[in-house]
Amino acid sequence: MTRPFGLLAELTYACPLHCPYCSNPLNLGDYREELTTQQWRQVISEACELGVVQLHLSGGEPLQRRDLVEIVRSAAERGLYTNLITSALGLSARRAEQLREGGLDHVQISIQSDEPTASDRIAGTPSFDRKIAAARLVKRLGWPLTLNFVLHRGNIDRIAGVLALAEELDADRVELANTQYYGWAWHNRAALLPSREQLERAETIVRAERDRLEGRIEITYVLPDYYNKYPKPCMGGWAHHQFTVSPNGDALPCPAAQPLPLPRANVREHSLDWIWNESPLFQRFRGTDWMPEPCRSCPRREIDFGGCRCQAFLLTGDAARTDPVCVLSPDHGIVAEAVRAANEPRRPVAAALTPRPHPRDAG
Ligand code: SF4
Ligand code: FES
Repeated sequence: MTRPFGLLAELTYACPLHCPYCSNPLNLGDYREELTTQQWRQVISEACELGVVQLHLSGGEPLQRRDLVEIVRSAAERGLYTNLITSALGLSARRAEQLREGGLDHVQISIQSDEPTASDRIAGTPSFDRKIAAARLVKRLGWPLTLNFVLHRGNIDRIAGVLALAEELDADRVELANTQYYGWAWHNRAALLPSREQLERAETIVRAERDRLEGRIEITYVLPDYYNKYPKPCMGGWAHHQFTVSPNGDALPCPAAQPLPLPRANVREHSLDWIWNESPLFQRFRGTDWMPEPCRSCPRREIDFGGCRCQAFLLTGDAARTDPVCVLSPDHGIVAEAVRAANEPRRPVAAALTPRPHPRDAG
């Protein structure tokens, strides 16, 4: 059995933004009872004992937690590399200095577009100017800066502008990540999935910009797996080298696994050691023994691990089936139909999107 090296700590699902592609669960109202500062300290301590070396602080918006600096300090004192994944709303100069002094190592800021109006429309709230100010602050304080840009039908044509903005902000890394269809993105998939033509244009720009910015900005481009022949090796395999703890203490092999009908494992009731090594949830899809055909006898089974369990569940209702993204899957027609619809010539340019609500407004 491998040991985990990364923990994604989803500190809260509270968030001032309302992005329609958010991967948080749809039942946000069920997560209002969050772990306390002391419980997060305990999680961090047990994670270190398990071998974790990287702590990614996410949400929702982690800056909504008043105890964020204490949580960062607790991780830094144990020698963890800490990464703040944020919309940047709430990153005032004072808060940033406290986080720097607390030992935060890296900041990743999400941006929705290079155009202020479009960015604010996608985020569902005025936020562009504050994001830009926060990005400059991050660089001024000497942190490495990653900009994360989630691509979808409504903004993928802005890639060149986004990379120009990243250059102006002196970003160290840019993640251009095509939307993964979980949570609110799954709910809004019909309006978010780009066309093949849009993807081809985007890839041409990314290739040229990678060459131009080589040595200055590292550009990661995450392909949309609906358009691939084989699925992504999701999470590097189920419970293989990282895990998530959600705001209510549920431990998960992947952040999108909440809706799967599997036994739960919560840090309020069990040690992380038991959860990682023995819990039925983490054992369920580990390795290759659980695989059905065609994965079981496929030469790629230790390359992509049969694809994504969450995607298999959302598309077929059964998390143990081959990911339908795979052309060898008996369910591949489901993905082919979604791609066909996304390339329909008469598809409206702007389709209706449901914005992700704040947990306090969710049912
Ligand atoms: Fe991967 Fe399974 Fe498809 Fe083979 S059949 S490529 S293991 S998803
Ligand atoms: Fe959960 Fe792929 S997103 S296993």
